[in-house]
This record gives sequence, structure tokens and C-alpha cells, in this order.
Amino acid sequence: MSKLENKVAVITGASKGIGAAIAKHYAAAGAKVIVNYASSKEGADKVIKEIINSGGIAIAVQGDVSDKADVTRLFQTAKTAFGNVDILVNNAVSQGYAPIEQISVEAFHQSFNVNVLGPILTIQEALKHFGDKGGNIINISSGASKYPLPNASLYSSTKAALDAFTIALSKELGAKNVRINSILPGATDTEGAASAGVTAGSEYEKMFVEKTPLGRRGRPEDIAKAAVFLASDDAAWITGEQISVSGGMYGF
Ligand SMILES: NC(=O)c1ccc[n+]([C@@H]2O[C@H](COP(=O)([O-])OP(=O)(O)OC[C@H]3O[C@@H](n4cnc5c(N)ncnc54)[C@H](OP(=O)(O)O)[C@@H]3O)[C@@H](O)[C@H]2O)c1
Repeated sequence: MSKLENKVAVITGASKGIGAAIAKHYAAAGAKVIVNYASSKEGADKVIKEIINSGGIAIAVQGDVSDKADVTRLFQTAKTAFGNVDILVNNAVSQGYAPIEQISVEAFHQSFNVNVLGPILTIQEALKHFGDKGGNIINISSGASKYPLPNASLYSSTKAALDAFTIALSKELGAKNVRINSILPGATDTEGAASAGVTAGSEYEKMFVEKTPLGRRGRPEDIAKAAVFLASDDAAWITGEQISVSGGMYGF
């Protein structure tokens, strides 16, 4: 039996990058997948098409994770399509890289709304749908939560908050048979990284690769494989952890 057979998974921010890879790997492992996106319908449709062409089951649902009504609708759509939800992956992100002088009030709220309030709203909603059977939550954090970089103070703070959430909620939710863990990717080759200036051959990429014992940037599938493991029964005794998936990239 495939590792996620008969499971239903909601993955936020799955129109591209790491979220898209998690959606495809979950579908390949037997899960029915809800591909959430904010604005890239084209990207989400491409992910769905790939999953369906490979024999998997998935639907795309637009929704802003920081909007309570959108989140309620996201889970309601999942329930209508596939029955109860078993797995939630909080992956959507607002990057907000800037030096301290340039962090605006609006940028602060945007980053914390998507990266912290978003997971609060999705977890609240997921708990209603998990019901008595329990469930599984994976928060996609970042190595930046433990090793913040210059100009990433805002982004890193949101991820540190998310890690604290993961630990606190593991204690609140264990009795409900809900596991919750964070994955901390190292530098990973995605559209989002490219838009932040980390492109193949760039100075940023060289800096990250030099700090990575395994000698390259991560690929979205590297993170997706860890996300399959954490969502599966192979990880049944793991909760409240922050797991680095980074080729050994520690510290700066
Ligand atoms: N790439 C890296 O080097 C790296 C390193 C460490 C950690 N991470 C973490 O890994 C995760 C994925 O990163 P990535 O690089 O794959 O990101 P990405 O390529 O920028 O993709 C971001 C995704 O988030 C969605 N999104 C943004 N705002 C949203 C909102 N308000 N509601 C719902 N969805 C929203 C986007 O949807 P639309 O396309 O529709 O806008 C997109 O699907 C993030 O949590 C990030 O912090 C990444």
C-alpha cells in the first residue's frame, strides 16, 4: 500500500516551488490533494494536470491563507470533494526581505499575516475537519528561523514564530492524536528564490552552496520527500520537531 493511501491533504501555496513538489509527491503516494494558491491559477492548473496525467487525484482551490473566510471555504471545498481532511501542509509564504530601515508597517503585517496568521487560521479549520481520528500538520519553516541572514530579519522572525507554534501545539494537540512538525529547508531552487535574486550562477547561490556540505542547493523534491515521510505512519512517533532538510547547511 502507498504511504498516503486514502488520505486527503491540503497544501497551501502549491502552485509552484516546494508546495507544488509536495502536492505531486503526496498524490504519487496515494493522497487526494487540494492544491491551494493565491493568484497563480495557471501554475495550480499545471500542477493538477501533471497529477491527473500520472493517475493521481487533485483539485485546485484559490484562497488567501490570511483571510478567515477564504480558509473556511478552502476546507469546505476539500470536504465536499473528498470527505474529511487528514493532512495539512502550511507552505504558503510572503518573503518580505528588506533591511531594517525599509521594513514598513504594511510589510510587517503582510509577512506575519501570511506566514503566521495563515497557519493559525488553517490549523484552526483543519482541527474541525480532522475530528476524532486525529491528523497531521507540517509547517514549512526555514533554516532562516535558526540562522537568520542580513535583510531577512522580518522573514526569519515569522519562521521562528512558526517553529514556536509547532512546539507549543505539539503539546496541545498530542492528546487529540494530531502530530505537528516543522521542516526547515535550506536554500532551495524555486521560483520564489529566483524572484529574491537567488538564481543559478548568482553570487547568492555560490554563498549558499559554499555553506552546504552536500555541495548544491536543495531541489523542491528533496523537501517533498521529507514531507511525505512526516505525513506517513513511518513518522508516527515524531511530533513537535524542527527537521532541517538542507544538505547539512548550518549557520552563517
Ligand atoms: N526556496 C527556498 O530557498 C526556501 C528556503 C527555506 C524555506 N522555504 C520555505 O518553503 C516554502 C515554499 O517556498 P518556495 O520558495 O517554494 O515559495 P514560492 O516559489 O515563492 O511559492 C510560494 C507559494 O505561496 C503561495 N502564496 C503566497 N501568498 C499566499 C497567500 N496569501 N495565500 C495562499 N498562498 C499564497 C504562492 O501562490 P501564488 O503563486 O498563487 O501567488 C505560491 O504558490 C515557504 O514557506 C518558504 O518560506 C523556502
